[in-house]
Amino acid sequence: MDVHGQQKAQEALDVEIKSFFDSAPPLRNIENVSEDLKKFIEMNSSGTRSARKVVCVTSGGTTVPLEQRCVRYIDNFSSGHRGAASTEYFLKAGYLVIFLYRKGTCQPYCSLLPDYPFLECFEFTHESGIQVRQPYSEAVKWAISEHHAAVADGTLLKLPFTTIFEYLQILHMVATSLRSLGPNALFYLAAAVSDFYVPWESMAEHKIQSGSGPLDMRLVQVPKMLSVLRSEWAPTAYCISFKLETDVKILLEKANAALKKYKMHMVIANELLTRKEEVTLVTDNENIHVRRDPKQVGDEVEKHIIEHIVEKHSTYVDNLDQKVSRDTGS
Ligand code: PMT
Repeated sequence: MDVHGQQKAQEALDVEIKSFFDSAPPLRNIENVSEDLKKFIEMNSSGTRSARKVVCVTSGGTTVPLEQRCVRYIDNFSSGHRGAASTEYFLKAGYLVIFLYRKGTCQPYCSLLPDYPFLECFEFTHESGIQVRQPYSEAVKWAISEHHAAVADGTLLKLPFTTIFEYLQILHMVATSLRSLGPNALFYLAAAVSDFYVPWESMAEHKIQSGSGPLDMRLVQVPKMLSVLRSEWAPTAYCISFKLETDVKILLEKANAALKKYKMHMVIANELLTRKEEVTLVTDNENIHVRRDPKQVGDEVEKHIIEHIVEKHSTYVDNLDQKVSRDTGS
């Protein structure tokens, strides 16, 4: 595409993005989100913590409501395991983490707990107190101590979303808040984001009646925010997006195309059935194939993914710092 064509495409995208945000219902707890973000960034940019890196991990799938007083919605598949496990490894590597997650999906440090932890893990004592049942005592102790340490330490901020409107509005707030951190900010966009939505103003207010026969509904394309994230929201942050496919034959080709089209620093390519075993980290100059070691008990692919990312991000920060020093002659 020539320069004129690119300019036209950018203008069209800007219009779509504006229309998406203009039509979105206002975020219900916007003051709380903004206050939590402000406190998190202030707390972590004072004193000795100023050079610490911050990652925004997005996790879980977004929903598309079909009615304003929502009874039905379209959902995007994601258990949230990737985001939750990655958060643990980023914290371990010394990052501060903003965990932007879908309500009800996997949480950091909870992977060893059963699905209904309160009912399964606890029992009454003789004195009607509550205690952890023996088989779960180690898992519960670990989950509580790691989670409390991260939250009390101010290194983990959790922000929940459900709909595509909430997700993109909060992502926008996070990205613009992290802009001041320059290359020390990292985006790890593992959430499964809806590709189509019903604009708020054209959405039925009340429950759609099934008696009216087959449902005929027009969904509008959700504008890809990746390019504005790179160009406007946080232009010097290191950005990683994901590519999920079910057909492995087209996976790397699609990941490469996304890398170029959205100017990502890395695209993590995964196939639905093998996503917990292996992924490929696609960058400008190499493809790194990452596998978990099945012989090592408890080994997770996320551990290896984060090791590579920490190294790449570090190089990126050093290179930008050197460039700034050269440009300013300092
Ligand atoms: O949660 P798990 O069960 O552990 O599974 C993890 C995962 C498979 C969900 C995760 O590893 C993953 O691949 N997440 C991205 C899934 C996805 O939405 O892929 P996509 O090809 O539709 O989108 C690619 C990228 O574009 C994503 O990084 C997404 O954040 C972004 N996107 C997508 C749509 C849209 N309208 N705007 C976007 O910015």
